[in-house]
Parts: sequence; structure tokens; C-alpha cells
Amino acid sequence: MPLELPSLPYATDALAPVISAHSLRMHHEGVHADYLKRLNALLERGDNASPSLEQVMSTGRGEAQACACQAWNHTFFWQCLTPWYHPPGQALETALTARWGSLEGFQEAFMASAMAHFMGGWTWLVYTPQGRLDIHNAVDAGSPLLKGLTPLLAVDMWEHAWYVDFGNDRRKYLQKLWKIINWPFVEQCLEDAMATAQGRRNLLHV
Ligand SMILES: [Fe+2]
Repeated sequence: MPLELPSLPYATDALAPVISAHSLRMHHEGVHADYLKRLNALLERGDNASPSLEQVMSTGRGEAQACACQAWNHTFFWQCLTPWYHPPGQALETALTARWGSLEGFQEAFMASAMAHFMGGWTWLVYTPQGRLDIHNAVDAGSPLLKGLTPLLAVDMWEHAWYVDFGNDRRKYLQKLWKIINWPFVEQCLEDAMATAQGRRNLLHV
């Protein structure tokens, strides 16, 4: 069975005016779909024609692994955005404040990291195996999962993500994006990551 393009969790015009319907359609039905199309074509030639995306990410190589990572990253990224904005909950804001001094401090640090990309890549808020929040830049089709980091928030820093709506102004793209960040999703990812880490610790004591 070929891997299918997941639907967006909102309508293509729902993120406007931050991300226009034209930009989102091009990104989802063009860029994201193309990674899956390329991956499916590569998998058809292999021995195992029906691996999961995560299997290809962890055991694939070269173009197949890169396409799988890009497909996974985009699916995660769509979930990090929402037209139904809610500010960060108390637990998440406390965690961000403990690490970066304030929510604004986190946002500035995140944007500085994102702006440091020389070419295409992703910027992530992650939960480390040591139980810390951190900001992680992944170049090209990188994935925090392959580095043992748990993704909590992704921002696509490839040119196709901002160029249609913001021209060369990457910083404006980042600044506007905070208006549509899905903080409840980020907080749920953090809760899951902490519960999983606690589960691992408990297992070690069995
Ligand atoms: Fe993208």
C-alpha cells in the first residue's frame, strides 16, 4: 500500500492572513505530496513495499530516508499550526519560563536559532533524554527523532514555507507564525514526552 498524504487538520484558507490559501495549498498538495510520491516510487523498487514512515526514517538511507523525514516533518508541522488560537497553558508556560526566562524569551531564542539557518531546514522545540527543553536546528531533511530528541514544536524554515507570502522576509514569517501556533498541541506533546520519560525511569526500577 502506498503511503498517503494526510489531510490538513483545517481548511486551506484557515490560516490566512498569516499563511495564504495559495501558499498552504502549494506547500501541502505540492511539496508535502511530492515527498510521498518520490518515497512511494523508491519503495516500490525495494523488498519491503509497505514499511511505515517511521521505519524508513530509522532504517532507510539516502533519498528514501530524506523523503520519509520530510513527509513526517510536514505532517507534524501542520499539527503545530491552528486557526483556533489558544495561548500556552500554565504548565507549558512555566516550563518555557523556567528555561528561557519568559515566553517572549523563548520566542526570541527560537527565532534567533531559526534565522541562523543558511539554507533549508527545520527549527524545533524538543524534549531531551535528560528531561530538558531545548531548541534544535535540523538542516535539510533532519529529524530530532533520529537524534533521540522528542519533538514538541516544528517550524519549517525551507524557503518554500515563507517565500510565497513573505518574500525574502524570513523574520516576518517567524513573527507572524506565533499568531497561529497550536500551543495545546505543543503542551500535549510535552505531557506525553514527560510521561514516557517517567515510564522509562519506572521501568528501570522494576
Ligand atoms: Fe515545507
